[in-house]
Amino acid sequence: MFKSFVSFVKEIYETNEFIPLHEPRFIGNEKKYVLDTIDSSFVSSVGAYVERFESEIAKYTGANYAIATVNGTAALHIALKLANVSSGDEVITQSLTFVAPCNAIRYCGAEPVFVDVDKKTLGLSALSLQVFLDEYCEIRDDGFCWNKVSNRIVRACLPMHTFGFPAHLDEIKAVCDRYNIILVEDAAESLGSQYKGQHTGTIGDLSALSFNGNKVMTAGGGGMVLTNNEAIAIRAKHITTTAKKPHKWSFIHDEMGYNYRMPNLNAALAVAQLESLPAMIENKRALALQYQEWGKNNSLSFVSEPENTRANYWLNTVITENKGEQLAMLEYTNSHGVMTRPVWVPMHKLAMNRQCQSVELTNTEWLADRLVNVPSSVVRHD
Ligand SMILES: Cc1ncc(COP(=O)(O)O)c(C=O)c1O
Repeated sequence: MFKSFVSFVKEIYETNEFIPLHEPRFIGNEKKYVLDTIDSSFVSSVGAYVERFESEIAKYTGANYAIATVNGTAALHIALKLANVSSGDEVITQSLTFVAPCNAIRYCGAEPVFVDVDKKTLGLSALSLQVFLDEYCEIRDDGFCWNKVSNRIVRACLPMHTFGFPAHLDEIKAVCDRYNIILVEDAAESLGSQYKGQHTGTIGDLSALSFNGNKVMTAGGGGMVLTNNEAIAIRAKHITTTAKKPHKWSFIHDEMGYNYRMPNLNAALAVAQLESLPAMIENKRALALQYQEWGKNNSLSFVSEPENTRANYWLNTVITENKGEQLAMLEYTNSHGVMTRPVWVPMHKLAMNRQCQSVELTNTEWLADRLVNVPSSVVRHD
């Protein structure tokens, strides 16, 4: 079966050369806009493309405000900081995720707590979140949610839209509201994905996007904080630009800031990529359908978009039968020129997180033993 899968992928991409998991496509104005920045000498953190990219991402996602950063991890750090996550706090997140959100939690001096994911969405499970909160947490007189075991404030919840499949945001938000927990969405992988007609990253109080080279569109490297709150947006812009007060010549910084502003060079690339994004996502959705059809006829199960959502299908994902089949698929495909990858080692299994509190992670463990990502770059039709 893996032999015919490899042939199928080679047929789709019309090549016998190595097929990567996800590579960027530059089909529009990328060179033109990047050259613009070089010609103008505005290649760094001041320049018209940065503001243009911010306003176009805000328009595309429907967020009121978008603040560009150097990468998605920096965007997560700022989003959590503006959710008031600080030293000694806890942030609930899913164990089945990339390491960046855990790192961002720690940059704030806080500790991650791990809950399970939903098998259908691959995103944070509202039920698991509720089980954790009901069992271990309480609202105290200060109005905050306290973890009775650790005696720390649970400040935020950070679900992730895994591989572009939107998590059940309504349910997650309802639980967060009940416990006075701020909802920050890690939408790094889900630009272009919608939940009940609304763009992912616009339902929580804050969110973060990533424009790393492996994402649906790239800035080379880059990220974005999204929020609908004007005061938060103003602070996000301020602390990502070294907290410098506007002045004709003086360098006055009114608090500790970060040098997190996206350079104009990257924003130029990103503006061009965003122009092609709707077409690239249609192409990726058509590819996902092709994979799913093939899977039906060849007993290979692909993850498809959950009900009430529209996925960007950043990475197409197979659910193999068991750990043995997962390893067999990885071995065969990677040694026959088709790049595939397992899902991340769950966060609770990493040495640095072993002491973190978690609840039962049955789905996380089940999926970690089965998921395989397959090539998902935009298919060229030229
Ligand atoms: C889920 C998730 N969160 C955060 C990030 C961090 O983004 P960046 O690589 O732009 O820092 C990534 C991807 O790289 C990611 O996949």
